[in-house]
Amino acid sequence: MLYRTTPTFQSGPRLKRRGKEKAPHKGGALGISYHTYINMSSNAQKTGREEEETHKKVEEERPDTFLDHTLRPASWDEYIGQENIKNNIHILISAARERAAPPEHILFYGPPGLGKTTLAHIIAREQGAQLRTTSGPAIERVGDLAALLSNLGGGDILFIDEIHRLGRAIEEVLYPAMESGVLNIIIGKGPSARTLELPLPPFTLIAATTRIADLSSPLRSRFSGGVFRLEFYSEDDIAKIVERSAKILGVKVDKSGVREIAKRSRATPRTANYLLKRARDYAQLKRTPLTGESVKVALGMLEVDELGLTPLDRKLLEVLIERFNGGPTGVNALAAALAEEPATISEVHEPFLLQLGLIERTPRGRVATRLAYEHLGKEPPSDVTQKLL
Ligand code: ADE
Repeated sequence: MLYRTTPTFQSGPRLKRRGKEKAPHKGGALGISYHTYINMSSNAQKTGREEEETHKKVEEERPDTFLDHTLRPASWDEYIGQENIKNNIHILISAARERAAPPEHILFYGPPGLGKTTLAHIIAREQGAQLRTTSGPAIERVGDLAALLSNLGGGDILFIDEIHRLGRAIEEVLYPAMESGVLNIIIGKGPSARTLELPLPPFTLIAATTRIADLSSPLRSRFSGGVFRLEFYSEDDIAKIVERSAKILGVKVDKSGVREIAKRSRATPRTANYLLKRARDYAQLKRTPLTGESVKVALGMLEVDELGLTPLDRKLLEVLIERFNGGPTGVNALAAALAEEPATISEVHEPFLLQLGLIERTPRGRVATRLAYEHLGKEPPSDVTQKLL
């Protein structure tokens, strides 16, 4: 259950209404706890229809969702960070344009909130192409994909988010579409079944996933334009993003306030924008300017610490250290001890804890590092480094 609504400082009835059926697709975080906000970035447990419904409902309900769109950079010039990807994509699409051909298919992967969808939007805009957006869980039947593909126009870009959730039978239809630009439709059953081969207009598939390991290798290998891993952002880049967002939102925040948000943002633009908006709310109600001091108080109330760790991150470290003696332990055991989904742990929490060097992955499981003990104010055991070997 990834859409848990564990309250941190929200009132009960509101959270109930915001419960399972109405949880947001991603991004905007108005009126929900920070814990929920972090979790909802990964929505591996919902069915396609539920998710579509949810998305529609949430778009109607939440003004903040629109703000998230406003904050999204619309061009390469506005897009901060991921320089390597930007350079490679720029070459890929410029060369394709010179040949008057659509760019080859592209796969983006990495933790939630780093800008995979944004990149798809920018590529489409730079190409002057129509972007059709869908997601793995929304494509429930082969017919859904066939309808999507057969409605594409020449040069269109099809964006499939969470592509790791496509069913195998649907993948089989996607392969020839990606490779040879044809849609194979099987008509009839048994010995009299025939395959109808429909030509498709030239198109580009851009896909995104938080779980590259869950993609079959035949699917991965068909992204002939490249498979790109999005990296966590540097603190300086996040500070630039916060400054840009503050300007768009019309919020005044001094340098120390920007730094304080950047430091606690989990190196993730979506989180940085979320924290900026919550700090703005606090400063607005307290009639106080947004400075390092007021940001610290506002984010302290959200229980986001100076490294950007949430209560669940800290609990994970504590459980690993106390209950599993510092590890090594498997993700399933950790998730069970935390009453969380393994996917939430491995897609949302672990990548950042690994990035900070608070945990390490060994062949025998996850291990707490010396830094983790120190961050929780605990004495590291003498064998702490041996476990990492
Ligand atoms: N907002 C969210 N991600 C961004 C990025 N990479 N650059 C600029 N603004 C952003």
